[in-house]
Amino acid sequence: MKELQERIIRDGRALSETVLKVDAFLNHQVDAELTMKIGQAFADLFRSEGVTKVLTVEASGIHFALATAYALGVPFVYAKKKKAVTLSDDVFSAPVYSFTRQEHYQISIAKQYLSSQERVLIVDDFLATGAALVGLTQIVKDAGAHLVGVGAVVEKSFQEGRGLLEEAGVRVESLARIASMKPGEIQFVESSPVHS
Ligand code: G4P
Ligand code: NA
Ligand code: NA
Repeated sequence: MKELQERIIRDGRALSETVLKVDAFLNHQVDAELTMKIGQAFADLFRSEGVTKVLTVEASGIHFALATAYALGVPFVYAKKKKAVTLSDDVFSAPVYSFTRQEHYQISIAKQYLSSQERVLIVDDFLATGAALVGLTQIVKDAGAHLVGVGAVVEKSFQEGRGLLEEAGVRVESLARIASMKPGEIQFVESSPVHS
């Protein structure tokens, strides 16, 4: 998505070779118009799949899931994160290890909102190590639902997330794919380096 790539160059900041700051427009302050276009882009990519529900994880996936679900005319559900070890019968849950926070947590979704009849599209802001997204795909599997794919707004292609998902047979669509970065330079997949 050209507009997104240009915005990343303009307002994003590579803090290091691994961390991209986009909190001016994607995940702290949010550009509502760009967010709706992102939802439209995911809807266009997956429309022929007969998606019945969009899934994400709180917090920074929620607005993208909303925009995508609205464009597709279906509901979205966001998995809740908790430290909890309390496993309820009423929820599907999966363990996630956060590399950035170096801690385990659990994501869960009420069973009543994810039936085996669903055709699910997972959406999130970042595809990095894939930890949270792999957890979500596990939940979709546990529900016996059909996963049509994963949509990521920003993919850091040098991390293992895409590989993990593809190994599991999951279709992955990312709107901006970063091949590499360092302060002052962001290189997208299949493009020449762009200086910011
Ligand atoms: P993930 O690939 O499944 O997201 O897992 P990972 O453990 O690698 O990422 C942990 C958290 O850090 C995630 O947010 C993810 O969106 C975010 N993240 C990963 N790489 C970057 C980056 O380069 N820049 C920014 N700004 N965020 C990044 P989260 O902890 O699940 O929480 P929330 O922000 O959605 O509440
Ligand atoms: Na996230
Ligand atoms: Na995040």
